[in-house]
Amino acid sequence: MAKLRWGMIGGGEGSQIGPAHRLGALADGLFDFAAGALDHRPDVGRDYAQRLGIAADRAYGDWRDMLAGEKGRDDQIDLVTIATPNSTHFEIAKAFLEAGFNVLCEKPMTMTVEEGQEIVRVAESSGKICAVNYCYSAYPMVRQARAMVRAGDIGKVRLVVTNFSHGHHGDATDADNPRVRWRYDPAMAGVSGQFADCGIHALHMASFICDDEVKSLSADMASTISSRELEDDAMINFRMEGGTVGRLWTSSVAIGRQHGFDIQVFGETGGLRWASEQPNQLIYTPVGGRTQIIEKGEAGLHADTQRLSRVAIAHPEGFPLAVANIYCDLADAIRGEHRDGLPGAADGLRSIAAVHAAVASGREDGAWKDARPPMFR
Ligand code: NAI
Repeated sequence: MAKLRWGMIGGGEGSQIGPAHRLGALADGLFDFAAGALDHRPDVGRDYAQRLGIAADRAYGDWRDMLAGEKGRDDQIDLVTIATPNSTHFEIAKAFLEAGFNVLCEKPMTMTVEEGQEIVRVAESSGKICAVNYCYSAYPMVRQARAMVRAGDIGKVRLVVTNFSHGHHGDATDADNPRVRWRYDPAMAGVSGQFADCGIHALHMASFICDDEVKSLSADMASTISSRELEDDAMINFRMEGGTVGRLWTSSVAIGRQHGFDIQVFGETGGLRWASEQPNQLIYTPVGGRTQIIEKGEAGLHADTQRLSRVAIAHPEGFPLAVANIYCDLADAIRGEHRDGLPGAADGLRSIAAVHAAVASGREDGAWKDARPPMFR
């Protein structure tokens, strides 16, 4: 099967997420890295793209040049990844979708709910794929958790509790580090800091595993480092459409916590627990029974779990391979084979609607807000 052609915007040398995209997109031999506008500094981006093996005429200095250059080609890219800071996602995603390209956009998909709705509409009318990189949902044992919930293994879900709390922005003397600072700058990050940066992964994961959507929420948002305009800690209570009660804590000042993403789902007949720092194990407890550790790679797992697991039992499969799973599902989708579970523009929109609801709630001492985007109410 011919390889698909892939391009990336952002994700330049030294960026946080760029390497995970390159490892993920290229892991399975499904894509060639054909074009890129990798850096906000045109010369730096062109130079780095060529060092990564991109031909000189497709090593672009700016995403607009890349759009113009790729549009006219017979061998134009089949997919573009947008891995730039948040404030640029909307205009780049919209322009590429309108020009007929498939898009994988980093989260948060947009800064505002209106922009998010616009992306959903443009993706629909263009007939192109707009995926959003909720890559944690592509870990094999997360797929296993969802399959077990769907199969009724823990009964009706009563409660979901999730945390995405780390301590890597907890040093007040480092608050002006440029890699840290933009995340709390409304002009670059939007209305929310930590919730939009990490908390939305946890919220998406709750929806993904429970197979349900967030309906309403109440939030307490805090800037524990007072120079920050946006929150670095948030506690969100939420309710899902199906009645499930949700609790979410997200923080960037939880010193001592490393990656800090975990989720527990409690149903009428059992409970599940998954943590990103032990991604190969899913912990399952049936009501009245013993706690069991389900290992990636063991016999009898759900077909989707097996499909997205590459190496034998007990060998770690980490973050870049979860990202690679997103690219596998994208390659299938581009070739016309729908993969259930690939996060799309609707998921990106639901997240940004929840972010805005949380900020509004926080400003009103935790008043409950409708968390759904207007177009899904
Ligand atoms: P970063 O600040 O480390 O890197 C940003 C990169 O984008 C740099 O190489 C910069 O030169 C480039 N860039 C900026 N503006 C550009 C433009 N107009 N055109 C071309 N390149 C441009 O940021 P980081 O942490 O890599 O985040 C990028 C995006 O990825 C953010 O939206 C962030 O929320 C998301 N992200 C997602 C993660 C996930 O787990 N899905 C994890 C980390 C980040």
